Amino acid sequence: MSRVLSGIQPSGDLHLGNYLGAIHNWVSDQDAHDAYYCIVDLHALTLDIDPNELRARTHDSALDLLAAGLDPERCTLFVQSHVVEHTQMAWLLECTATMGELRRMTQFKDKSAGQDSVRVGLFTYPVLQAADIVLYDAERVPVGDDQRQHLELAREVAGRFNHRFGEILVVPEAAVPAAGARVMDLQHPERKMSKSVSSPLGTVLMLDSPEEITRKVKKAVTDTDNEVRYDPESKPGLANVIELLAVATQRTTDDVANSYERYGDLKVDCAEALVELLRPIRTRRAELAADPGAVPALLARGAHKATEVASATYARAAQAVGLLGRS
Ligand code: TRP
Repeated sequence: MSRVLSGIQPSGDLHLGNYLGAIHNWVSDQDAHDAYYCIVDLHALTLDIDPNELRARTHDSALDLLAAGLDPERCTLFVQSHVVEHTQMAWLLECTATMGELRRMTQFKDKSAGQDSVRVGLFTYPVLQAADIVLYDAERVPVGDDQRQHLELAREVAGRFNHRFGEILVVPEAAVPAAGARVMDLQHPERKMSKSVSSPLGTVLMLDSPEEITRKVKKAVTDTDNEVRYDPESKPGLANVIELLAVATQRTTDDVANSYERYGDLKVDCAEALVELLRPIRTRRAELAADPGAVPALLARGAHKATEVASATYARAAQAVGLLGRS
C-alpha cells in the first residue's frame, strides 16, 4: 500500500468546503493507502493565536476529523507537536532550502505583504511542511490547489537533499483533487467557501444543525432567469447548489440539472441531501465528545505510531548529513 500524508491546521470549525474538498477524500484514502493525517499545531503558531484557544482547537480538530470518519484502526491520526522529529527534520531541510526559493512562495508574499515585522516562522513554514511529508516517506500528498507551490518546494528540497546525501528521502507528489470539489460561498458564489472571508450565511459548517443548513441553502444567491442549467460561468450561484447536491448524492451535475425545473425544488433537495450527509457526523461528534478521555487516548496512540516511522526517517537523515549519533 502506498503511503499518503496530509496535514490540516487546527483553525476551528470545519465547513463544507473543508469536508467535501479534503476530508471526504482523506476518509476514502484510508482503505486504499497507508494514510497519515497530521494536525499541524506548530504551523498554527505562525499566526497570532491565544494559547488556550490553540490547545482547544487542536483537541477539537481531532474530534471533528474522527467524527467525519477518520478511523484510528485504518489510519494514523496525530498531532504534529507530539512527534518531535518534525522540528528536527525541519532544521535539516532549512539547511537545504534557500532564501530565494522561500521568498517566491505566494502564500508567504500574501501573508507578509504590508507587515512591518514578519516572523521567521512564517518564512520557513513551507520547510516545516516539507519535513512533515518526508518524515513519513509519503508518496502522495492530498492537498488543495492552494498548496501546489508548497508541494513543489517539498519535492525540490527533498530532491536536493538526496542529490547531496544519497537516496534518503522519498520525493513526494501532490494529489490535487479534480475540479468539482470546489465549494463556493453561498452568498458570494464567485469566491471559495472560507471561514475567514465568508459571511456566516454563505458558509455551511460541518456541525451546523439541520435547520441552519436548510436556512443557508434556501437563502443561497442564485440569479433571476429561472432556468435550471449547470453553467458555472454565467450562473455561478446555481451551479454551486447543483454541485453540492451532485456531490452529496454522488450524481453528475448534468444529471442533477436535468432533474429540476424550479430553483426552489432544487434548493429543498440540496438542503435535505446536505442534512443527511452531515447528520451522522454530528451524531458521532456528540458521542465522542461525551467521553473526554477518548480523544487524548486516540491521539496518544497516533503519536506512538507516527513516532516509529518519523524517528527512523530522521535517524537515517541525521546519519546521512554527518551528525554523530549518540550511543
Ligand atoms: N499548509 C497546509 C495548509 O495550510 C497544511 C499542512 C501542513 C500540510 N503540513 C502539511 C498539508 C503536510 C499537507 C502535508 O493547508
